[in-house]
Amino acid sequence: MEIKGMIAQVIEEAVKQAFPGVETGMNYESLLEVPPDSKMGDFAFPCFRLSKALRMGPPMIAQKLQAAVNAPDLCRAENVNGYLNFFLNRENFARDTLQKVMAAPEKWGGGQDGQGKTVCMDYSSINIAKRFHIGHLSTTMIGNSLRRIYDFLGWKTVSINHLGDWGTQFGKMICAYKRWGVKEEVEKGGVDEMTRLYVRFHEEAKEHPELEDEGRAWFKRIEDGDAEALEIFNWFKEVTLKDAMKVYDVLGVQFDSYAGESFYHDKTGAVVQELRDKGLLTESEGAQVVDLEKYKMPPFLAVKSDGATLYATRDLAAVFYRKNTYHFDKCLYIVAYQQDLHFRQLFKVVELMGYPWAKDQLEHVAFGMVSYEGQTLSTREGRVIYLEDLLQRAQEKALEVINEKNPNLENKEEVARQVGVGAVVYSDLQNSRIKDIDFWWDRALNFDGETGPYVQYTFARCCSVMRKAGEIKAAPDYSALQDDEAQAVLRLLARFPEDVRAACRTNEPFMVTRAVTDIAKAYNKYYYEHRILDGEESAQAARVQLTDAVRNVLKTGMYLIGMEAPERM
Ligand code: ARG
Repeated sequence: MEIKGMIAQVIEEAVKQAFPGVETGMNYESLLEVPPDSKMGDFAFPCFRLSKALRMGPPMIAQKLQAAVNAPDLCRAENVNGYLNFFLNRENFARDTLQKVMAAPEKWGGGQDGQGKTVCMDYSSINIAKRFHIGHLSTTMIGNSLRRIYDFLGWKTVSINHLGDWGTQFGKMICAYKRWGVKEEVEKGGVDEMTRLYVRFHEEAKEHPELEDEGRAWFKRIEDGDAEALEIFNWFKEVTLKDAMKVYDVLGVQFDSYAGESFYHDKTGAVVQELRDKGLLTESEGAQVVDLEKYKMPPFLAVKSDGATLYATRDLAAVFYRKNTYHFDKCLYIVAYQQDLHFRQLFKVVELMGYPWAKDQLEHVAFGMVSYEGQTLSTREGRVIYLEDLLQRAQEKALEVINEKNPNLENKEEVARQVGVGAVVYSDLQNSRIKDIDFWWDRALNFDGETGPYVQYTFARCCSVMRKAGEIKAAPDYSALQDDEAQAVLRLLARFPEDVRAACRTNEPFMVTRAVTDIAKAYNKYYYEHRILDGEESAQAARVQLTDAVRNVLKTGMYLIGMEAPERM
């Protein structure tokens, strides 16, 4: 438990003691204040908040409570002008916290909260025959981080890349490939070559509209399961995924399933039938829709007038497939905010079908837009940033910085990869998801600001302290950690488990980003103001243990957001 919560418990006990039988109905934790000067205590409780409930003046309450406070190992209390000021037993707090962290340092913050529960996560979900651009960075990184966070808390996670691999455009692409494509060139050029063919299709179709029919016919063949059509189509998928896999490898991202839209094509019939059986379908201009007017939403389009299903229909089939296959307790859709309406409609339809779990198990984990050095990205105007290029540049730039700061570093290239990628990941997960992100190189790669490299650098600093310290035989003397700076670090370490849980509860990786940043900052402050390897060996042992705990927790935190942790940089 966080230290504040422990103090709140002490107050609760004291109130029970001093005023038996009285229910104040107060949340003591939220009333606790932090005095501006630590000479006035670590926490202060304003007793006037209880005056009404206890029908007594604050100084009297403070006096009675002080007499009742009884937790000598944790803190002592003084009463000053109607305030109860708490002074932590700082030595005990240091011992207690470090012993807890160091009992299993790699696991600090983790747990079994999610034991027996399954969460499906739909993220990245790229589109076939399209290059992986930075519009897909957030979904990939948020999903990757949430997966690690849920895993760390004992959930069973199922990560799903719901591929965009269905639609008439694939018929057109096959048509273009059959006419002008060369196998070796697609193999070599990958998605770029497919795009070139697709663009050519549209150009030629202006002059020869019959090409459109040919494209449609090819798509029909895919739908009907024609062997040749499927072979080419599946090969396009393979080529796209091979390109994407390079990015996933660099980012350390993995999936349990690549079942995308095409996978659900033959499962839409049953779900549409169920809609019909339950009397939810109405006809509108030849199309089959679920009317959602009552819920102030446009109708959910299930079947088009030509009988074709839609993105939404396939998503509806996917909900049930996932429920029946994985028996999820939660299913997260990590998709841009633009699809907000789509998911609200989808979830409402599942609910109307008579599945009450739709309400609390299906969740759209939305996020804002990414712009790049002040410019929004637009495929149409050619302002696209490919993820591969972005990550490549990040590594080059990180290498420049390393060459400047630490030219003799061993395996510079490897560290540059870790730092460059870390910088990108960190900037993506720095703020609440819904905030738009504007990505700037000099901000992301700054070693001093609130950045990925800054946290990595602090971790490397801890590693260096540990190397210099070597083996210390003396038992730690925790009274050496009573200063404000050490205590600030300890408090952050103590609350790390709660930060991880809050991140999981709200699906907000930035809470972990913030936790590691705060720990890094607090440790650096400590490092500048105190000499770690100095004085009594037992005091050194305590400071080194603090460093070791920070090193471990930073590593865990970075892992949870998807960053690597070089030991030297
Ligand atoms: N492929 C879609 C896109 O790029 C995202 C799919 C999200 N997942 C889903 N189940 N709808 O916009």
